[in-house]
Amino acid sequence: MNRLHVSLPGLSLKNPIMPVSGTCGFGEELSKLYDLSNLGAIIIKAATLEPRLGNPLPRVADTPSGMLNAIGLQNPGVDEIIRSKLPFLEQFSCSVIANIAGSSLEDYVETVKRITNHPRVDALELNISCPNVKEGGIAFGTDPHIAYQLTKAVKEVATKPVYVKLSPNVTDIKVIARAVEEAGADGFSLINTLLGMRMDMKTKEPLLSIKTGGLSGPAIFPVALRMVYEVSSISQLPIIAMGGVSSAHDAIELMMAGASAVGVGTANFINPWVCMDIINELPEVMDKYGIESLESLRQEIRSKRTV
Ligand SMILES: Cc1cc2nc3c(=O)[nH]c(=O)nc-3n(C[C@H](O)[C@H](O)[C@H](O)COP(=O)(O)O)c2cc1C
Repeated sequence: MNRLHVSLPGLSLKNPIMPVSGTCGFGEELSKLYDLSNLGAIIIKAATLEPRLGNPLPRVADTPSGMLNAIGLQNPGVDEIIRSKLPFLEQFSCSVIANIAGSSLEDYVETVKRITNHPRVDALELNISCPNVKEGGIAFGTDPHIAYQLTKAVKEVATKPVYVKLSPNVTDIKVIARAVEEAGADGFSLINTLLGMRMDMKTKEPLLSIKTGGLSGPAIFPVALRMVYEVSSISQLPIIAMGGVSSAHDAIELMMAGASAVGVGTANFINPWVCMDIINELPEVMDKYGIESLESLRQEIRSKRTV
């Protein structure tokens, strides 16, 4: 039996670890370092209906224990992703999750329609929480009615399970989680980045071109953990958890909070082998804490959560 195996709607993963959207492109760069088949899954960069150039520079900044980004969903557009990016991933056996973004409900629906039947796409991650786009962006993820409508509309056209990516930039993440669950989501993914900013000391102006950006990296790990715990306490839907993960210990901690699988983002920029390191270290950490298998851990944790 594979102790690291985890099952989620549409995803039978040899291990729970996946590089997350925006931090691994479409896998080309990472594949030069290691065989992507070793990953549980990969969540590819956001797909929007039309190509996007993203925001003007500067759009990244260092912060203590993390970074700020305001990339603005730069991507070649869903048709180009289908034409030139997804075929590359056919050679690997890891699952592929397509991250979907848009400026309007119609945008999301059309993008999902185009990509959902692609044989290399196992599940969809609906990004309703990007803080770095002017139109829509965060509004989709902070208003429960809009989150409901968007999820429902996407579920009507999606042929693959839909994981809705929740924003941490809300007063109560449970409100949005409930709305999205009612709309028919198959699972959650959380968290996206936290809204933050830095000043340019020379110009006395905000450092990033669009003033604010998304905070990610180890600094946000305790926030992610708290939100995963809260959402898993009110819903039985599976959670792909992310936010500041950089070790096997972090991954197990998130699973103890209720996650079924774990995404790794900013840590890839510091150590591009980090996903492999985490996968290799998981058995040792599991032994240390008396965890027989990740499936048994999930069942134990979930049975404690009352809904
Ligand atoms: C440079 C960068 C680009 C990102 N692009 C996307 C994106 O296209 N779609 C999305 O849903 N999240 C995007 N994110 C958010 C990450 O997927 C992840 O939710 C967040 O960074 C928290 O994880 P981390 O702390 O491990 O990086 C991006 C994050 C970074 C740092």
